[in-house]
Formats: sequence, C-alpha cells, structure tokens
Amino acid sequence: MGIHRTSLAISQHKCRSGAEPLVMLTAYDAPSAKMADEAGADVILVGDSVAMVVLGHNDTMQVTIAEMAHHTAAVARSNPEALVVADMPWLSYHISPADTVANAAKLVRSGAQAVKLEGGSERVPMIEAIVSAQIPVMGHLGLTPQSMLAQGGYRIQGRNSEAALAMVADAKALAHAGCFAIVLEGMPAAVARMITGATDVPTIGIGAGPDCDGQVLVFHDVLGIETNLRPRFVRRYASQYQDGVQALAQFAADVRRGDFPSAQESYEMHPEEQMALGLYGS
Ligand code: KIV
Repeated sequence: MGIHRTSLAISQHKCRSGAEPLVMLTAYDAPSAKMADEAGADVILVGDSVAMVVLGHNDTMQVTIAEMAHHTAAVARSNPEALVVADMPWLSYHISPADTVANAAKLVRSGAQAVKLEGGSERVPMIEAIVSAQIPVMGHLGLTPQSMLAQGGYRIQGRNSEAALAMVADAKALAHAGCFAIVLEGMPAAVARMITGATDVPTIGIGAGPDCDGQVLVFHDVLGIETNLRPRFVRRYASQYQDGVQALAQFAADVRRGDFPSAQESYEMHPEEQMALGLYGS
C-alpha cells in the first residue's frame, strides 16, 4: 500500500522548490477512480463536469449536491491513494456561509477529503466558513464553467492587463482565505505564470499553459470517450469511444450469428440431472 496524499502535502507542492508538476484527473465512479489512481494521479477531482460527460447535460449548472455526493461516494469507495476532491455544484455555495458549510459537509460525509468551488474574492466569506469547519478548499479561477451565463459563454479570461491583474489579486485572496490549491482554467499562459509566481499554494492548470504547479484534464477527454467537444488544450491519449463501439458491435454480430455464448461460456448440468428432466441426449 502506498502513501495516501493529503491536502496539507499538496498545499506545499510548488514547482519553484524543484518539485515535479502535480497530476490531477477527474473521475466520477469507482472504476474510473481506480484507473486514475493506478496511473499515479496525485489528486482525483470528482468534477461537476460529470453533468456533461456522464449525465448528458449541456452544462455543469444542472448537477445537484445530491448527485455530486452520489458520485463522490463511488469514487471514495475505490479507496484511492490520490486525494479525493469533490466539486461544489452551482448554487451550493452562493446562498449563505451556513448553507455552504452544510453542503461541503455532505460531500465530506460521502468521502471527499476536500471540496472545490469556483470564483474570486467574492467567495472569500464562503471559503473562510468551510475552512473554519476544518474542510480543505481548492479554489478555481479564470474560465469558470458555472459562470458561463455571466461570462457570455466559455471564454478565455484575463486577456487584457486589467483583467489579468484582477485575477492575480483574486488568487492572492483565495490563498489568504485558506485555499490549499487553485485551479486556473482557460487563461493566457502568461497570466497563469504570474499567478503561479505570486502565490505560495500550488496552481493546477487546464488550458492555462505549462507554467502551473500541476495540470488537470477530464478523464473522458484524455481517453477519447468524450467526442462532442475538443478544446485546444485537450491531448487525447486513447480512442476509447471508437474502440468501445467496435467491441460492442463485435458482440452484437457474435450474438446475431449464434457465435455467443460458446460451450466454454455456458454452464453444464450433470447428465443424471438432465436425464431426470428428460433432457439428456436431446
Ligand atoms: O469539473 C471539472 O472537471 C473541473 C476541471 C475541469 C478543473 O472543474
């Protein structure tokens, strides 16, 4: 058995001190978590991307805290060495600090070791409330999919100097409020580099260039299971959708040809018992 990762260890993981970049992968159920863990991920994120890649919604705003808890529990049951972080879904941390802590606690009671939420300085009161309930929090800045209505779609953030400086200030505020790491999504590499240099907690990038303290991708994107969307930051390492369709079509063909199941894939009954039923030799 290896060493289980902790949010404390992750919080100290900065590449400027010579550390290798952190690896974070999303997973939404026990088999995907087991695969990510065996592949050596440091962090498994039960992302609200589950809404799109697993549950068939068009955006992440449709997933509920109950659904996130359900998927978090499945991931946690695989008992990974990686740190399990669960996304707080839209509207689960926007109402009040008390409501936010209660929702974070639901994810912890489902097996999360930390929670993640989206947004900048405006989230500080909620982050402080969760941290004071002894629950580690990961921040998320830049292109934040839960803000896609307010941000006018999925748009790269921080393209001008004013917006870039505002994001650096947001990152400092999140770190000061107690976030142990911050996801940087959909921003110019130069801005992610500035934020990474300006904060003492690790940054984990997605579409934010190579100079973050770690990188994250969505499980279904890495394995080529998701084929509808392919943003430029996704690198595919397999074509599991096509491979899967091919395998399933082969099964269908074998069934229709009468090739499946074979004798080896079937269970036998003792000849005497068959005789008692009048089946032997039939
Ligand atoms: O939900 C998710 O998958 C995420 C990652 C893209 C960081 O938040």
